[in-house]
Amino acid sequence: MLTSQKIVDAMNEQIGNEFSAMLQYIAIAAYFDAVTLPQLCTHFYGQAEEEKNHAHRFVKYVVDTGGKLEIPAIPAPKVQFAAAEEAVKLSLDQEKKVTSQINALVDIAKTERDYTSDNFLQWFVREQLEEVTSMEDLLHIVRRAGEDNLLRVEEYLARKNGRGAGFPTEEGA
Ligand SMILES: [Fe+2]
Ligand SMILES: [Fe+2]
Repeated sequence: MLTSQKIVDAMNEQIGNEFSAMLQYIAIAAYFDAVTLPQLCTHFYGQAEEEKNHAHRFVKYVVDTGGKLEIPAIPAPKVQFAAAEEAVKLSLDQEKKVTSQINALVDIAKTERDYTSDNFLQWFVREQLEEVTSMEDLLHIVRRAGEDNLLRVEEYLARKNGRGAGFPTEEGA
């Protein structure tokens, strides 16, 4: 095995954390779907897809290094939200939590002098900076727009992602 059992255990645990983040984003996307905010819905389904890919990266790493894969049970996500702000704030908190989890993994890799795992984890260190920053931006925008003006947020996401705004434009009407 190219890595230590300690690292394999921690990576298996992180697979659970990434899938847990994926389920939470699916629940948030479904919330935005239910309140008919299609851009926010699509945005969070996209986030869920990213988390699935993160989990897959860890799965592949455990297999590639000859470790024994174990996928832990995933807790149920929160599915009800009082407001858009609550859902986006939970997303930001989740990204900050995952950043701490990745940092803890890097700590273990460095302590174990496991440079292969340290190198593998650096991709996640960079990814988390991007994830936290973009979720912070989204939370600012949701707060600035206010719950009665969430179509502003929809327009922002449509522009940012080069998508249609999800409702008829004046030109299109
Ligand atoms: Fe992730
Ligand atoms: Fe993430």
